[in-house]
Amino acid sequence: MTTTDTGSSPAVFAEPTGTALSLLLLGQAADPRSERGVECPGDLPAPSDPDLVARALAAKEALGERVFILGHHYQRDEVVQFADVTGDSFKLARDAANRPDAEYIVFCGVHFMAESADILTADDQQVLLPDLAAGCSMADMATAEQVEQAWDVLEELGIAERVVPVSYMNSSADIKAFTGKHGGTICTSSNAERALTWAFEQGEQVLFLPDQHLGRNTAVRRLGLSLDDCVLYNPFKPMGGLTADQLRNAKMILWRGHCSVHGRFTKECVDEVRERIPGVNVLVHPECRYEVVESADYVGSTEYIIKTLDAAEPGSKWAVGTELNLVRRVANAHPDKEIVFLDKSVCYCSTMNRIDLPHLVWTLESLVAGKPVNRITVAPDTAALAQAALEQMLALP
Ligand code: 13P
Ligand code: SF4
Repeated sequence: MTTTDTGSSPAVFAEPTGTALSLLLLGQAADPRSERGVECPGDLPAPSDPDLVARALAAKEALGERVFILGHHYQRDEVVQFADVTGDSFKLARDAANRPDAEYIVFCGVHFMAESADILTADDQQVLLPDLAAGCSMADMATAEQVEQAWDVLEELGIAERVVPVSYMNSSADIKAFTGKHGGTICTSSNAERALTWAFEQGEQVLFLPDQHLGRNTAVRRLGLSLDDCVLYNPFKPMGGLTADQLRNAKMILWRGHCSVHGRFTKECVDEVRERIPGVNVLVHPECRYEVVESADYVGSTEYIIKTLDAAEPGSKWAVGTELNLVRRVANAHPDKEIVFLDKSVCYCSTMNRIDLPHLVWTLESLVAGKPVNRITVAPDTAALAQAALEQMLALP
């Protein structure tokens, strides 16, 4: 359980379609599945306020070492300029844990990242998420109730004892606690191979939550399992829509979750860009579908993607399959390389985009005024179990 200032709770909603989806991908509409309709309870500055940058600088300077600002690579430029560190989910979790002196951690990212930071920091440190509506639709695809029901199924079949849960960082604190309770580990896109290798040393089968693509891509491409070793567990169907034998014989039980941003990239996008830009290197995030990852040249976390592009030869050509803020920023930083977005249409993560400069200014100024807003607090019993799973990840060989 996590508490926030508004106490909003996750819900499962239908996929957006047609115009709604187009607006969402343009970053101009709300995603009701993970943006929970949270109104900002304070005096949010107007986006047109010409003093926003000066206000953010002044508040940050007034707070000094008391505040530490983390920025995920998908954040807007206007926010990233104020981050003390940027990184992928793994690096940011480690950075938060390694900053015991900061009274306030302002997390410019999404809800599950702020929860993880709260779990990994001391009780007297406060983690703030500038907009509580910054959720993650993938994380919302596995609720604690659904996962407990699935575990009951595995217990009834008599196989739970040999199943090790591995949960992607993109999951709620409740799912992380479930993972800790059953002796599993958390993983991120930069350590999923090590996490799965470890899990198969502890048990015979893995329940991978909630991103089917990261689970399948890692198991098949990195661990050498076959596609037939993987089954897809649909939480909306009895027994996940699988037979007892399918569940007993699978090495990987993949939860039916996905990222709607990375789901935009198709094999056709890869074929089209290769035809349009001869000699192009295709570089994608492992949340993309299996056939996309299979047809790419390089695959890795957001941090890996940035490092690969930073190190690329001048004049080299790249098509990148991940969120647009990241791709645009890295393309602007390297005008000597041709770096394009893999999809033809623009593709922001609408929930990451919720954190903008007005929300950051509001959060920092509230701290200066001694009235912190949007604190993310994970309940102690949940946090203790989730911490075990997160620490298992941080201790992976
Ligand atoms: P990284 O761990 O690679 O930063 O990915 C997080 C994420 O949400 C990607 O969609
Ligand atoms: Fe979640 Fe996808 Fe956004 Fe990452 S890009 S935070 S997985 S919705």
